Amino acid sequence: MLSSVLLLAAAAAAYCVYNVVAGYSRNIAKAKQSGLPYYLSPVSPINQLALVLRSFWLPMWKLLPRKYWADTIELLNPDWNFNLLFEPFERLGDTFLVVSPGSIRLYTANAEAIHQITSKREVFQKPTESYRILALYGENVLTTEGSMWRSHRKVTSTSFNEKNTALVFKESINQTYGLIEQWLGPDGKGNRTIETAEGDIMALMLHIIGYVGFGLKLLWPGQTVPAEMDPKLAKYSSLQPPKGHSMNFKDSLHYTLHHILLLLILPRWLLRMLPFKSTRRAIKSENNLIQYMDQFLQDKIEDVEQGKPDPGMDIMGMLVRSSYGDRAPKDSAAAKRDSKLTKLMDSEIIGNAFIMIVAGHETTAGTFLFTLLQMAINAASQRSIQQDVDRIFGQTDPSTWDYEQSVNPLLASYIGACMNETLRTMPPAVDVPKKVLANRDQVLMIDGQKRIVPRGTKVGVNVVAAQHNPRYWPTERSKITDSESDLADFVPERWFSKTSSSDSSTDEDADSEDYGGFAGPDTSAQLFRPVRGSYLPFSDGPRSCLGRRIAQVEMIAALSVIFQKFSIELAVDEWASDAEVEKMGRDERREIYQKAQDKARRTLKSATSIITLKLHGNKSIPIRLVPRGQERFVDWVE
Ligand code: HEM
Ligand SMILES: *[C@@H]1O[C@H](CO)[C@@H](O)[C@H](O)[C@H]1NC(C)=O
Ligand SMILES: *[C@@H]1O[C@H](CO)[C@@H](O)[C@H](O)[C@H]1NC(C)=O
Ligand SMILES: *[C@@H]1O[C@H](CO)[C@@H](O)[C@H](O)[C@H]1NC(C)=O
Ligand SMILES: *[C@@H]1O[C@H](CO)[C@@H](O)[C@H](O)[C@H]1NC(C)=O
Repeated sequence: MLSSVLLLAAAAAAYCVYNVVAGYSRNIAKAKQSGLPYYLSPVSPINQLALVLRSFWLPMWKLLPRKYWADTIELLNPDWNFNLLFEPFERLGDTFLVVSPGSIRLYTANAEAIHQITSKREVFQKPTESYRILALYGENVLTTEGSMWRSHRKVTSTSFNEKNTALVFKESINQTYGLIEQWLGPDGKGNRTIETAEGDIMALMLHIIGYVGFGLKLLWPGQTVPAEMDPKLAKYSSLQPPKGHSMNFKDSLHYTLHHILLLLILPRWLLRMLPFKSTRRAIKSENNLIQYMDQFLQDKIEDVEQGKPDPGMDIMGMLVRSSYGDRAPKDSAAAKRDSKLTKLMDSEIIGNAFIMIVAGHETTAGTFLFTLLQMAINAASQRSIQQDVDRIFGQTDPSTWDYEQSVNPLLASYIGACMNETLRTMPPAVDVPKKVLANRDQVLMIDGQKRIVPRGTKVGVNVVAAQHNPRYWPTERSKITDSESDLADFVPERWFSKTSSSDSSTDEDADSEDYGGFAGPDTSAQLFRPVRGSYLPFSDGPRSCLGRRIAQVEMIAALSVIFQKFSIELAVDEWASDAEVEKMGRDERREIYQKAQDKARRTLKSATSIITLKLHGNKSIPIRLVPRGQERFVDWVE
């Protein structure tokens, strides 16, 4: 009896070993044929379970001689992308494979390869299996592939036009006033330390994306619903939960997003049983949000059936219009136009409205926060931004700013350069996953050489590394570290560099169909233009970010409003009180500001990527909002 159990166990073990060895040798053979450098790893570097359990098996792997693990071990650190930037690619090649028994993964920071991968959407597809969870409230443009994706993209992209972007510009300006009021405090003077700006900036971007997604006006504490607002919409704006709800709309959205990982991963029955504050709040906010979404859908259907005019920026309203529009006899021209688009099901309308909020909230908030912090750290850049805001807008009232006239000058100014540099150094999405279809190998042409990417290969387009690849970016000696290159530093001047490495390569085999979203150029002709494939904070090609233009406009509007009248300084409370600073001369002030700058740079470097790159945990950089003319540091320090 015992011996047959042992025999069975031995057979099972042998079978496992056989599988591992056979898998390894099969994959190694394919990697050899690819012509690309390849390295071995005992587990797939994107196997989430293996990564979570790495403290158990890594030490065992490291018992082997160094040459068996030295190449790939650092790729198994979940935060290697942002920690190491281009360094692994310098050693391993700018395009290489990591082979494990069960899979092959390609890594690339090579612009030519990236451009081919992002432009051939039919063969380098999205690994939709790892996006399944984002279809929680309905299928949508982010979670689908193939013809299904195509119809989602066609319908959703109609909202992303310049007319609506102009409305977003206005709303961003209005909402930024709300943020400034919060930061100035009740006495309206500023002069106080904001320990963590993150919460308020998340709120700012939630308010803007609430407008983009639903046409809503969300309120800051202390604000009241404007009298002229449609009462149907007012119930979503109200800070008091309306009848039938235990939470207001804004909080239900905020907490659902805040607890999104819990909600995505845990089954509902388990969540309901767990006694923690966070799990209870997750459930409560989700229940409220689902209720709101259903109501929204009904309200919008009613609006369409009553033939109410198009309200402008409101993705959910537009989706309802395109699915229910032909029932509205009054609007026959629009109905005819709409009927060419695929009709989405109710769950897909909700799924898409929700995914816009997910895709457009934390990404934009993170980028905006990092830009503000970089301005506090790099005082000279902040002064340049202020000069450009003065040049473009003077002392005019922001509520009169005209989108059409100002958008291009803003993008081409220091404001645009700082935003672009933040997105280069700290992109919210550090890599973009793709995969090669399982039925055919794919060819990549790299430096005139044909490389074969084996069928089924998982692909990681390494955004951060490409954006730090010295082959594509003009560099100088670092001014803040002893490094040969300033590529890891925040240097917005790089965007005005004359040595344009632009190659105007034509994309013969690229997919030339219009997939919606802003189709204009990425960068202006007179400015530095990165080589296609070397700069991709919004990804590239047919599956690039639908909200790129909107995100950029939100950020340049908010930056302009803030820097027209204010400066942002690092708070130095940790080193000196206000009274002490008051008595200091310039040398002493420079010295303590330098401490704050060094610490802030270190803190930024400790950002980690969970869904997006952020200061996760309780890391923060305290700042102050100071009226221009009353600065203590940034009007003169470097
Ligand atoms: C700074 C802000 C933003 C950044 C850095 C960013 C970045 C990205 C990236 C890298 C992708 C590709 C994702 C992938 O392939 O897995 C993407 C896709 C997408 N983004 Fe954004 N995004 C931003 C803001 C927004 C905003 C404001 C919206 C909506 C209003 C939005 C809507 C979308 C959508 C719908 C997709 C999916 C497109 C498709 O698959 O066809 N994003 N974004
Ligand atoms: C912002 O918009 C609200 C309502 O649309 C309006 O009442 C308020 O005056 C605006 N604030 C500013 C500073 O323009
Ligand atoms: C920054 O990027 C935007 C769009 O991606 C582009 O239009 C703009 O010209 C860039 N700004 C600078 C200063 O390079
Ligand atoms: C802000 O604080 C600084 C230093 O404490 C002081 O010099 C300045 O007058 C204050 N400004 C206002 C408006 O209170
Ligand atoms: C929060 O910060 C404190 C020190 O300021 C640290 O001891 C603690 O571990 C941090 N918690 C998290 C979750 O990072």
